[in-house]
Amino acid sequence: EDAITIGLLGAGNVGAQVARTLVEERELISARVGTPVRLTGVAVRDPEAPRDWKIPGELITTDAEALVDEVDLVVELIGGMEPAGELIERALRRGAAVVTGNKALLASRGAELNAIAAETGAALRFEASVGGAIPILRPVEESLSGDRITKVMGIVNGTTNYILDQMDTTGAAFDDALAEAQKLGYAEADPTADVEGHDAAAKAAILGTLAFHAPFSFDEVYCEGISAVTQDDIEAAAASGYVIKLLAIAEKQADGAVLRVHPTLLPRTHPLASVRGAFNAVFVVAENAGELMFYGQGAGGLPTSSAIMGDVVSVARRLRTPVAESPGVSDAVNLAPLPIER
Ligand code: HSE
Repeated sequence: EDAITIGLLGAGNVGAQVARTLVEERELISARVGTPVRLTGVAVRDPEAPRDWKIPGELITTDAEALVDEVDLVVELIGGMEPAGELIERALRRGAAVVTGNKALLASRGAELNAIAAETGAALRFEASVGGAIPILRPVEESLSGDRITKVMGIVNGTTNYILDQMDTTGAAFDDALAEAQKLGYAEADPTADVEGHDAAAKAAILGTLAFHAPFSFDEVYCEGISAVTQDDIEAAAASGYVIKLLAIAEKQADGAVLRVHPTLLPRTHPLASVRGAFNAVFVVAENAGELMFYGQGAGGLPTSSAIMGDVVSVARRLRTPVAESPGVSDAVNLAPLPIER
């Protein structure tokens, strides 16, 4: 069988769901691509680690480099700078397509990795890196590319939104809310990145880069997290009709752009104020389009795997052999229109 081969690096919260989808929904994904796709390996550090979905033993390997060298498409879900960075670079250099959710890496080496991809003609997609399930990067980069975006303002970290929301609505203690967010699979391996705003700052850099068509890195984002926010602050805000949200803001000014992350007082009537739990939302302002808002689940294995799979289908379509030469898989499922009820 002449399938597009996929190698998965990492099988944590998101990776395990991507592996499950690629195995259990293989027919659907192949149909959406228009040619068969096949998961040929999952590279992990610890084959015995407990996972949300049990990966078939024959797919598991600890040799990530060998896997990267043999597949058409690499899905990187290890996270962090290394070895994720060198593996992505290795894949791009040999022309393999890469799909990743790695915001920290993109916010520091995004321009460099994009340049390598451009040089070899490889695809590099990262919709899952900001806003989890929310389709936000493609709208900002492509759908609005004929307009001028002036401001992007979002709740882009599920963990901190969950903590602030729990403190606001149930009076939960900071540490208990954080422990719960970790249990639900929202937090980073080291939750300091969430709490101190570093994760949101990485996402602000990615959003700013795509919105303003100019490279911004993590270091160029002013960053203040929520560790200094107290229950008293939250109650005082509530008493005067406000809610405290950690916002990532990228704003165009006459002579440049300002990128920042910090706790912000929002009137309870603001659309971003109603974003609860681990949900994310990104508010975009463009000259001609005006105001837009994108909303959805911003963290967690299943929602984030949706964005990864969307990128997988999208880049695999570019890799597929022309339909005439491919074995051909049809998406013409039995979805007949039902009679209209009056
Ligand atoms: N730790 C991140 C968050 C995961 O809480 O939003 C999604 O990027």
